[in-house]
Amino acid sequence: MGKPYRPKDHFFQRAKQRGFRARSAFKLEELVGRFGLLRPGSRVLDLGAAPGGFLQVIARAVGPSGLAVGVDLVALRPFTEGWVRTGVVDVLADDAQAQVEALAPGPYDAVLSDLAPKTTGVRGTDEARSVRLAERALELARALGKPGSSFVTKLFMGGDFEAFRAQLRETYREVKVVRPEATRSASVEIYLVGLGLGALTGRQ
Ligand SMILES: C[S@@+](CC[C@H](N)C(=O)[O-])C[C@H]1O[C@@H](n2cnc3c(N)ncnc32)[C@H](O)[C@@H]1O
Repeated sequence: MGKPYRPKDHFFQRAKQRGFRARSAFKLEELVGRFGLLRPGSRVLDLGAAPGGFLQVIARAVGPSGLAVGVDLVALRPFTEGWVRTGVVDVLADDAQAQVEALAPGPYDAVLSDLAPKTTGVRGTDEARSVRLAERALELARALGKPGSSFVTKLFMGGDFEAFRAQLRETYREVKVVRPEATRSASVEIYLVGLGLGALTGRQ
């Protein structure tokens, strides 16, 4: 049997109209609208940034006095904005932090991760890989975030969700779980938002 027919949905059409590279841009717009994560002048790190939907939203929000740094396993199509920097980095590599810092040193006002593994269809495997990426994103956010900074990560809902949320709660003043409207109905993904790095860890 062939693949099921998937009509280009509402968010796909809207992304095209707005010139967004990916519908995921709407997910970040919603998170920014709810939690005010980005401001003019902010320095923001975007992990798993290709093709660049999040980065477009970040670039517009932080403006020329800010900095938007996006990294991914694959190269991003170049941005014309001079305050956007992109690089090819495997966040699971031992020297990933050094590679990010070589692109632009911290500290950052926000670290955002839309990292997602290539799915295998085996639920447990996909969930475990998703948590591994989210934990890596959290490590980078702890290392490179300013005291008081924000964090967002995508996570496939599953077995280790509670343990990961507990780690976030040890690190951020406030932790929220969100399923943005632009998320496909069949998707298992949610986003965790951490506000106020260091409030409970003595970093502030
Ligand atoms: C859902 S996509 C990101 C979409 C992006 N936020 C946007 O708005 O265009 C997930 C990305 O995670 C990247 N990724 C997965 N594993 C990675 C790793 N180990 N290091 C860096 N990027 C990774 C993939 O290459 C993919 O581009």
